[in-house]
Amino acid sequence: MTGLKIIATGGALPSRVVTNDDLSKIVDTSDEWIYPRTGIHSRYFCGENESTTDLAIKAASQALERANIDKEQIGCVVVATLSAEFACPSTACLIQEALGLPTDIAALDINAACTGFIYGTEVARGFLSANGKKYALVIGVEKLSKILDMTDRTTCVLFGDGAGAAVYEADDTMYYSIQGACGAKDILVPGINEADGKSYVSMNGKNVFKFAVSAIPRVINGIFEKSEKTMDDVDWVVCHQANSRIIDHVVKKYKAPTEKFYKNMDRFGNTSAASVPLALNELCESGKVKSGDSVMLVGFGGGLTEAGVLLSYAPKA
Ligand code: COA
Repeated sequence: MTGLKIIATGGALPSRVVTNDDLSKIVDTSDEWIYPRTGIHSRYFCGENESTTDLAIKAASQALERANIDKEQIGCVVVATLSAEFACPSTACLIQEALGLPTDIAALDINAACTGFIYGTEVARGFLSANGKKYALVIGVEKLSKILDMTDRTTCVLFGDGAGAAVYEADDTMYYSIQGACGAKDILVPGINEADGKSYVSMNGKNVFKFAVSAIPRVINGIFEKSEKTMDDVDWVVCHQANSRIIDHVVKKYKAPTEKFYKNMDRFGNTSAASVPLALNELCESGKVKSGDSVMLVGFGGGLTEAGVLLSYAPKA
């Protein structure tokens, strides 16, 4: 076995929708400022009784139901998150217990910020290669609302909560991946709010923007080099949904049709590790992606990290 293909996806969102207008009652901002710069109109925030674990279990169980497989065949559970409910037990172990998944497989959380789901895909491929099992369950989940400084308008308007999941099948047809990391950690880090001394997301927006518009083509070109394919060979590109303008920049660079690059940050904001699988899930639910289509997933973000994978969508049902 050398690669993976996507056989099913799932997603979960908290109950509370927070619009830009809602945020304008908390900080000095407006839809007129936020939307043109980011493409974000609203996002979901967890209520008091909604946890990262709840979202992850919902997304995972939806993906598993849709996969139409015997859950005893799952060969690993990998959860990408930077906002797990607990450091231990891991979200992955809680999912394993809640969904009655096999106990002779690895279940673990990883943190590569917004690139987490793509790194997690590669980690899952490694486990299946090692244990010879057929299917992997990979989840990206975040409750970023708990680490947002709701007095900082430069960050609190950008992020949201949610979860996305995929069931992968070991596959020998098409799989190319690439990963990168560099420690330019000064531009996207937990910052300290002087008022309460707690740690919150903070970033230099302009420098993160510059990083993003260089990271995505680096990842895409890296995959094209390995695969000897071009943008014409790729049916769908699902990039991390940080900012609509970042994706527009890349679409223009490749002279690609806008529809090839899926976007949903208008309703979800940036959900970090959940962003790629949530967008992938919506794309699959839309019915636009057909069995046999090639899908490229591209992540970039905190660390700094970046990664991509090119693989097929091939649902079983
Ligand atoms: N509402 C209103 N005004 C705001 C604001 C908000 N939410 N956030 C910042 N501003 C103000 C600033 O205070 C500044 O005011 P000043 O000129 O009086 O000092 C002005 O708007 C411009 O701020 P700036 O930070 O220069 O804006 P920008 O054009 O760089 O846009 C981002 C800010 C965050 C939208 C943009 O930098 C960006 O998208 N960066 C990438 C972020 C990202 O994707 N992060 C996640 C990566 S995984």
